[in-house]
Amino acid sequence: MPDLKPETIDRLVEAASAVRHQAHAPYSSFTVGAAVLDVKGRVHVGCNVENASYGLSVCAERNAVAAAVSVGSLAFEGLAVVTDTSPPTPPCGACRQVLVEFGDFPVILANLEGDRILTSVGELLPDAFTPDSLVKNPQ
Ligand code: THU
Repeated sequence: MPDLKPETIDRLVEAASAVRHQAHAPYSSFTVGAAVLDVKGRVHVGCNVENASYGLSVCAERNAVAAAVSVGSLAFEGLAVVTDTSPPTPPCGACRQVLVEFGDFPVILANLEGDRILTSVGELLPDAFTPDSLVKNPQ
């Protein structure tokens, strides 16, 4: 997996930071922004959207992926997640499973203090259940 260029990391972190301000998080007050870069160079963003029926809340990462898929982007080069925490927050388990649907790519965990942790979908979710897992007799 190729490393992301520093300017690409900056671009993703800035996009995730900006969309974080749109988060609808009246219940947790925990706002999250995510940005995913597709192979065509387009950035798709998402924030967490909570609901009075708490269990229906959707994380920023999944909303960013949904935004990408909604315009036909299924191949990703990297994703950034921004929270106001120290250290930066990693994606929840459900989001890890949604990310691995689209392969292994770099993930940047960032916060407002400028901390950045570089990881990947594969590191976040080893031994994952993937689309290949559905194949009964892989060649
Ligand atoms: N949240 C995310 O947006 N991404 C994660 O990976 C972890 C949690 C959101 C869900 C909820 O709106 C709030 O953060 C507190 O859990």
